[in-house]
Amino acid sequence: MKLLVVGATGTLGRQIARRALEEDRDVRCLVRNPRKATFLKEWGAEIVQGDLCKPETLGPALEGVDVIIDAATTRATESARLQQVDWYGKVNLIQAAEKANIQRFIFFSILNAENFPDVPLMDIKHCTEKFLTESNLNYTILRPCGFMQGLIGQYAVPILDNQAVWFTGESTPIAYMDTLDIAKFTTRVLDVQDTENRTFPIVGTRAWTADEVINLCERLSNRTAKISRIPIGFLRGVRRIVGFFQWGWNVSDRLAFTEVLASGKPLDAPMDEVYTVLDLDPKDTTTLEAYLQEYFSRIMKKLKEIGYEKEKKKKKKKTPFKSSES
Ligand SMILES: NC(=O)c1ccc[n+]([C@@H]2O[C@H](COP(=O)([O-])OP(=O)(O)OC[C@H]3O[C@@H](n4cnc5c(N)ncnc54)[C@H](OP(=O)(O)O)[C@@H]3O)[C@@H](O)[C@H]2O)c1
Repeated sequence: MKLLVVGATGTLGRQIARRALEEDRDVRCLVRNPRKATFLKEWGAEIVQGDLCKPETLGPALEGVDVIIDAATTRATESARLQQVDWYGKVNLIQAAEKANIQRFIFFSILNAENFPDVPLMDIKHCTEKFLTESNLNYTILRPCGFMQGLIGQYAVPILDNQAVWFTGESTPIAYMDTLDIAKFTTRVLDVQDTENRTFPIVGTRAWTADEVINLCERLSNRTAKISRIPIGFLRGVRRIVGFFQWGWNVSDRLAFTEVLASGKPLDAPMDEVYTVLDLDPKDTTTLEAYLQEYFSRIMKKLKEIGYEKEKKKKKKKTPFKSSES
């Protein structure tokens, strides 16, 4: 079975490619810039150049492929508008997959996307789910809601760095999951026929508010967060202003996501059925405590080592003639 991972240079896509290669699967990755993907080649993947927004690149990339795993999305840092990649790009890919008689299309959506029609990314995910389910492809839709990896830049690093942690205060609990676990669920989907033409939530062991995540980071790092609250009304204002300008469309689309975070509707779902269908044990899923504990103990150890090295260099400088005297 040949897999094509789309978005394999991304946070989740790379974990899926790695997991699939570790399981000795035949993996091809569609990438826009092969130079950015040398690590995938080193892991053993085949690299093919392509772009969701260039439909002519998709046909050749799909030759000989049995399953597509689509973990691509517009980069927050990019000028391409959300719609170009996440809607038109995905339509291109689904149509190319139909033409190529792909056996299965695994699509990453977002949990509860249908509840937020005014948030562009959620609306596009919901529309793409519909477009895929109405296609003639065998599909599996996986709906995560937040990656633990995203919490490092958002909370852990600023707390360690004594920088401000920004948040709106109106906080929706989110059941974050480690992308390594999501990768494990994804490759299981490939082996379980009962996952065909079905949609599953893929969420962590419990939902956390921003306050709770910050408290946990403070406890594990033994530091106090410098919290800066941004009123949600201010963000709505910024969104309206940047939305007037073409350069600001992507920023505006992203800021709309604050509506999800301010909704107070928990991003969480029961996972019992998913564990049963995939025959996985919930006890093996990483908790946020364990994930952050591992992160902070690794970083603290590194910081201690750096401090120790600096101290050693300082001591050497203070006694430059010691060795010649003795
Ligand atoms: N992050 C979250 O918390 C979260 C939560 C729920 C669901 N999801 C969903 O999970 C999936 C993976 O998210 P992620 O955070 O891992 O994404 P990410 O780190 O932002 O990576 C995005 C990937 O998409 C690729 N890409 C962007 N535009 C492309 C194009 N025009 N053609 C081909 N590839 C393109 C990027 O390639 P380059 O390296 O070339 O830029 C990159 O590999 C997405 O569907 C996302 O919506 C994410």
